[in-house]
Amino acid sequence: MKRILITGGAGFIGSHLSERLLEEGNDVICLDNFYTGSKDNIRHLIGNNRFELVRHDIINEYYIEVDEIYNLACPASPMQSYKNNENLGNRYNKYA
Ligand SMILES: NC(=O)c1ccc[n+]([C@@H]2O[C@H](COP(=O)([O-])OP(=O)(O)OC[C@H]3O[C@@H](n4cnc5c(N)ncnc54)[C@H](O)[C@@H]3O)[C@@H](O)[C@H]2O)c1
Repeated sequence: MKRILITGGAGFIGSHLSERLLEEGNDVICLDNFYTGSKDNIRHLIGNNRFELVRHDIINEYYIEVDEIYNLACPASPMQSYKNNENLGNRYNKYA
């Protein structure tokens, strides 16, 4: 049994991967800022005592001890990705 962090765990792939890894007997920490993901994707996993949900943006540091990390935290569609870059650009410009 491993302790596994999935960033973007509330997304399409992350939620299915969470299910699979739980079924295999692992502890899963699902970290997500819900930018494109949804609690609906993981609602059925909440309540499983081997599943933890953390609302966090990976742009900020996060410290945790785990055996494996799957990094799926990314706005997958080109339009969301473009919007995200625009937002980051604005944020950095603001503080530059
Ligand atoms: N879906 C596919 O068919 C497919 C195919 C190949 C590769 N991929 C890649 O797999 C990854 C996941 O794809 P998906 O379809 O599950 O996308 P998705 O949008 O459903 O999931 C991405 C998750 O990451 C979260 N997220 C985004 N930015 C974040 C941040 N800064 N901090 C924390 N969480 C953040 C979102 O809220 C969402 O839950 C992407 O990198 C995508 O390019 C997807």
